[in-house]
Amino acid sequence: MAAIRVGGAIRPLSSVPTRIALSSAKQSAVSSVRMASSFYSGEPEGPVLKTEIPGPKSKEVIAKLDKVFDTRSLNMLADYTQSTGNYIVDPDGNKLLDVYAQIASIPIGYNNPALKKVAESPEMVSSIINRPALGNFPSHDWAEILETGILKVAPPGLNQVFTAMAGSDANETAYKAAFMWRRQKERGGPAVEFTEEELESSMNNQSPGASQLSILSFKTAFHGRLFGSLSTTRSKPIHKMDIPAFDWPQATFPQLKYPLEEHAEENAKAEADSLAEVEHLIKNYHVPPCAVIVEPIQSEGGDNHASPDFFRKLREITKKHEVLLIVDEVQTGVGATGKFWAHEHWDLPSPPDMVTFSKKAQTAGYYFGDPSLRPNKPYRQFNTWMGDPARALLFRGIIDEVQRLGLVEHTAKVGEYLYGKLEALASKYPGQIQNLRGKGQGTFIAFDNPNRDEFLKKAKKFGINIGGSGTSAVRLRPMLIFEQQHADILLAAVEKIISS
Ligand SMILES: Cc1ncc(COP(=O)(O)O)c(C=O)c1O
Repeated sequence: MAAIRVGGAIRPLSSVPTRIALSSAKQSAVSSVRMASSFYSGEPEGPVLKTEIPGPKSKEVIAKLDKVFDTRSLNMLADYTQSTGNYIVDPDGNKLLDVYAQIASIPIGYNNPALKKVAESPEMVSSIINRPALGNFPSHDWAEILETGILKVAPPGLNQVFTAMAGSDANETAYKAAFMWRRQKERGGPAVEFTEEELESSMNNQSPGASQLSILSFKTAFHGRLFGSLSTTRSKPIHKMDIPAFDWPQATFPQLKYPLEEHAEENAKAEADSLAEVEHLIKNYHVPPCAVIVEPIQSEGGDNHASPDFFRKLREITKKHEVLLIVDEVQTGVGATGKFWAHEHWDLPSPPDMVTFSKKAQTAGYYFGDPSLRPNKPYRQFNTWMGDPARALLFRGIIDEVQRLGLVEHTAKVGEYLYGKLEALASKYPGQIQNLRGKGQGTFIAFDNPNRDEFLKKAKKFGINIGGSGTSAVRLRPMLIFEQQHADILLAAVEKIISS
């Protein structure tokens, strides 16, 4: 029987997906048949496994690293100089199809040639070595960089941006904008001066009006780990242990049952109950919310979905009670759901008040439309960097490439293909692929597996780097350059993992 060496052990060829089984020499022999990437050259035609992961070289480097850096959360050690397109490469030469993509943060592949060009441009060099304190000393071309980049893809109805450094920072600055907006309204408008008492009490950490306001989030939500954002994060206790937190309300996120068609009534009730709870908390919580923050698909918390109707009604409720709606698109934004912004799937009667972004955008911030969300005085929303033009330039390069190659539409199509095939696998292995979700949401697909952690570990043995979310979900977060041939490799591996 034909056999290959995988992870140090000789295995029969039939036990591993064909593409993985091919040695590099054999792979090049079939290169005219197998297509690697139709977008860029240089990608391997399939995963290549040379050693166990971590292999000897990785182990050596990890031991060295552990002396100076906490490696307890390390998933795998990568060699980014060798990684290409959809493939992440490790120091031992293992090449894995990466459907985790730096926690959903690589949009158009490793070592993307178009982004290399951006990186080498005089504009980028200047932005990196002359980093501006943006609030005080923005560059002559900052408006143009914003207009041709971040703002070119602003969600419908929103035309301004406040730039930030990371997802948590984007959310926190959005919260600050919400508090200032509400207090300004209560005071009687932007021209009304703060009282002496207000100014003094703020220095004693007692802002009388503001400390009686809150941000409402949902159970199992994830909005980041900085102090303010962590108070709205409700996914895992380990994130929150020992950190002082605000007394802010949480509503139940609808827990939908799958397949959706078979549970329409129960699911509609779960959504109605959740909305009733939101409204109740808005009206009655002892620290009233001035904003509600919601993820289009709760990501870290387990890939929990709700219907467009749920979100339309959430928009109505927040409008009715003059509470702002912040949509956290840090993980869902930039194309993976088959729309540039996931909330574009909802057909909202009026846009969200703020939309936060980071991850695949490489830069971060929040979009808004209402000018009164700009604080009434300078320096109220401010820090040294306030974002980073270098990262904004990179996002512009990403946007150009996404538009040039039609990657959002492409992702919608590949997602449909992948979902259909997973559906078939789920009926073949119903105990192993449970609660398949993400239909019509591009490649933003997940399913539950009873031995999820084992599943994720095993995936590396079959040449796949894949992540989880919540307690039992296997979450797919491929890049926007993930194609049908990558889906086939992934699907073959999934079947091997669950049947092995
Ligand atoms: C929906 C969402 N919001 C906020 C964050 C926090 O982003 P960051 O880790 O960049 O601070 C994350 C990170 O996973 C996220 O998924």
